[in-house]
Amino acid sequence: MTTHESRVFSGVQPTGNLHLGNYLGAITKFVALQESHECLYCVVDLHAITVWQEPAGLEHNIREVTATFIASGIDPKAHIIFNQSRVSGHAELAWILNCVARMGWLNRMTQFKEKAGKHRENASVGLFSYPNLMAADILLYRATHVPVGDDQKQHLELSRDIAQKFNSDFAKSIAAHGFDETFFPLPEPLITGPATRVMSLRDGTAKMSKSDPSDMTRINLMDDAETIAKKFRKARTDPEPLPGEEAGLKDRPEAENLVGIYAALAGVPRASVLQEFGGGQFSRFKEALTEVAVEKLAPVSAETKRLMDDPAHIDAILSDGAARAHAIADPILRQTKQVIGLLTD
Ligand code: AMP
Ligand code: TRP
Repeated sequence: MTTHESRVFSGVQPTGNLHLGNYLGAITKFVALQESHECLYCVVDLHAITVWQEPAGLEHNIREVTATFIASGIDPKAHIIFNQSRVSGHAELAWILNCVARMGWLNRMTQFKEKAGKHRENASVGLFSYPNLMAADILLYRATHVPVGDDQKQHLELSRDIAQKFNSDFAKSIAAHGFDETFFPLPEPLITGPATRVMSLRDGTAKMSKSDPSDMTRINLMDDAETIAKKFRKARTDPEPLPGEEAGLKDRPEAENLVGIYAALAGVPRASVLQEFGGGQFSRFKEALTEVAVEKLAPVSAETKRLMDDPAHIDAILSDGAARAHAIADPILRQTKQVIGLLTD
């Protein structure tokens, strides 16, 4: 049995309001993995349209996620940045996987339940089958490692189940064609570090989210220094001073969240944040937190803005990335069709 080389794939939806959770939970990991892996980073526009997107806003948001990737330090020459809809294999493989995944599996997805809410009957069919498209994104490249925030854990488990079912349903045909018996490697989630689940600044039990109606709940990557300072100043806390040890964060979700954010931004363990700020008032800690956030985010937003002034340059990067992604995907999709018994050129 030959082993598959390691390859990283991840995606971010172009749905506006990229925030600190996206940055710490996903984008900073994307940047770090470039050192050790071949990486594909995808602006998942087909996922975005599972809920209504204003067309002009969607175009803007696709370019803005691309610009943010580059501004954060992803190298579009050494690795691949592209938008999903440009490589038609994503939609094609998603259809095939629609026929592999089971209704019962998708019915268990908590994100669909949250997003569809009480209006389940009125949700798009795409929103329901969203995790199959996500599995297609990953398997289309035989990606082995997938960096994501904690909220995507269940979707990744489903991707693994789909890969496994495909490998076993078609085992005979896979062998007859002389392909590796792990036709689709089971993708490994990479959910690591102190900020895999950044919480709302107004409610330590709710995830920081692009779609929260209140902008005060999140730090947007495009926020200026003054806005960042204001949002942290007004962030909810409890009346106790910060504890000196991690155990003291138990049942204090807002304090735990802010300490986790500081640790991730400064690149230090939570314990050393508490050593420095434990026993002190939140107001002083919040000032330090603002300082480290502005130091990290200001250059990213400035560079994103600069790149957004030249949309043609961004479009050229996406087009080049899509051509290179297509070159990897095409033979894998062709083999997939052969294994199923679909005739190909
Ligand atoms: P999305 O904006 O839903 O496409 O998410 C893009 C990436 O950011 C995914 O890997 C998510 O898991 C991650 N992410 C989104 N929200 C958060 C959050 N509040 N904390 C940590 N990671 C997050
Ligand atoms: N569903 C992911 C999210 O909302 C985005 C995504 C789409 C993704 N396809 C992917 C992440 C493939 C990792 C791998 O955050």
